[in-house]
Amino acid sequence: MFERLNAPKQDPILGLTLAIQADQRPGKIDLGIGVYRNASGETPVMAAVKQAHIEQANTQTTKSYIGLAGNETFNKALIDLLLSGTASHARAAGIQTPGASGALRMLAELIKTARPDATVWISNPSYVNHRPVMEAAGLTVAEYPYFDVTTKQVDEAAMLDRIETLGEQDVLLLHGCCHNPTGADISMEAWQRIAELADKQGFLPFVDIAYQGFGDGLMEDAAGLRLLADRLPELIIATSCSKNFGLYRERTGAAIVVGHTLEESLKAKGRILEVARGSYTMPPDHGAALVAAILEREDLKAMWLDELTTMNRRINDLRRALVSHFRSISDSDRFDYFGQHRGMFSVTGLDNAQLDALRADHGIYIVGGGRVNVAGLRESDIPRLAECFLAVGA
Ligand code: LMR
Repeated sequence: MFERLNAPKQDPILGLTLAIQADQRPGKIDLGIGVYRNASGETPVMAAVKQAHIEQANTQTTKSYIGLAGNETFNKALIDLLLSGTASHARAAGIQTPGASGALRMLAELIKTARPDATVWISNPSYVNHRPVMEAAGLTVAEYPYFDVTTKQVDEAAMLDRIETLGEQDVLLLHGCCHNPTGADISMEAWQRIAELADKQGFLPFVDIAYQGFGDGLMEDAAGLRLLADRLPELIIATSCSKNFGLYRERTGAAIVVGHTLEESLKAKGRILEVARGSYTMPPDHGAALVAAILEREDLKAMWLDELTTMNRRINDLRRALVSHFRSISDSDRFDYFGQHRGMFSVTGLDNAQLDALRADHGIYIVGGGRVNVAGLRESDIPRLAECFLAVGA
């Protein structure tokens, strides 16, 4: 049965992780997969997560099933975290999913059910899994211009020009904050214009927000999404607890639907649950149970916010340290983009030959397309990283 299968495609991010594990050289620098590391190079279990885990282990009395939508306290808490105070809040319905990629897939299936001929527009470039997940659901994918590799900023004029052509058959996939891979986010003026265009032309905004709290703060990072939620009748959202709760392997995310009415959102939720039943049935409980416990309890929530703020500050400190180190050794401001970008990632503009040289000659691993995981850096690695960038002609 399997003899005629083609070899599987290698995922660029997960493939790089395997190559890093196989490299035995001391001093290798892993700037690949998006995980946060502290100053010692570890990805710690957050203190509030550990506390909630211990309490859960001591008090949980059963591992029996919960239900197709997972933990409803968690679903409500994530809706609150993103939408409370907006006009959409009371109309939103959500389901727990296996990570944000699970949410992307479930929402893609919902689009396919509601509007089979829809085109999903993704940024160029976008998260490497956006296109595969949308196509796996049978949707057509197209790209809108996004990143200007010369300025390392968003080309908002080109982006909005394309968005102006979208209509009722279109879905616009946006990164809520901390754009993956580029680190370059759109301005509030652009969010405002997108809201006007969606309202006028009827395309559906689909916001993927996987890094809330890793840019400028929990509320600040949701500001664009909240603007859409205040102005538009319909919206879909994929969100994740992988990064801001450090729950990566626990696969903890949510798919949220905002319809014209709560009834409409609940109907859409029910249709997503049919798809879930036909695939994984129910999401894993553990991560969502911990997040629900943290967000429900004042003391745990305060502990979590404190640590999240520390992580956020560390990323922004690393960005500042990169800018000042690169300025001093390159005698130029061409690396200032590190300080202008937000979140874990920055696209550096390095080409494949430069990436290969960094990997082969210096043990520095960067994802194809030139994406650096700033949040994975150690301060002590910055001088060598900067020297090696200049050595390969960056
Ligand atoms: C990343 O972009 O590195 C992460 O979101 C990991 C993933 O799931 O691809």
